[in-house]
Amino acid sequence: MHIDPADYVRNAIRSVPNWPKPGITFRDITPVLQDPRSFRVLIDLFVYRYMRQRLDLVAGVDARGFILGAVLAYELNLGFVPVRKKGKLPFDTVAEEYSLEYGNATVEMHTDSVRPGQRVLLIDDLIATGGTMVAASKLLQRLGANVVEAAAIIDLPYLGGSKALKETGLDIYTVCS
Ligand code: PRP
Ligand code: ADE
Ligand code: MG
Repeated sequence: MHIDPADYVRNAIRSVPNWPKPGITFRDITPVLQDPRSFRVLIDLFVYRYMRQRLDLVAGVDARGFILGAVLAYELNLGFVPVRKKGKLPFDTVAEEYSLEYGNATVEMHTDSVRPGQRVLLIDDLIATGGTMVAASKLLQRLGANVVEAAAIIDLPYLGGSKALKETGLDIYTVCS
């Protein structure tokens, strides 16, 4: 029986009601990572999409984007750069504040993590309001990167994040919603 790879991944995602706050349904990707088949299907979806594209780096967003981004960078023979939550990077940094579905935060990158003109794939697990992806792509653009695409496993379209991201001119790819 043929199973669509995106459905395979979607079926492994767990929804947890009222976490971290009442009214929020949290999309938990840990079951996808824990099951070797769904983890492989997921990473391979990204690998097949990007293996023929000209890319220089993968940038992953702290914390869940690190899990995907590091594996994908390795598979694509690319370097990995972290977009970290505030206060964790030791060298010179640039920072962007943002709000997300359930709070506010700041992300930072090392000023030497990208060279002007480098073609960067930005990856995270989920797009909700899009605040995190917008902040990460702004950081990359401030460093002179060309953000080729912003990729995630899950889009929550009812929060309008992916639409807002597209309106900023970013190309978006998500596996499922
Ligand atoms: C979560 C998720 C995305 C972000 C999406 O990260 O991993 O990064 O929220 O929300 P948005 O589209 O509204 O910005 P979070 O910072 O909560 O936690 P993490 O450190 O576990 O990745
Ligand atoms: N980040 C922002 N909103 C989220 C949600 N509903 N589930 C998991 N991560 C999130
Ligand atoms: Mg996150």
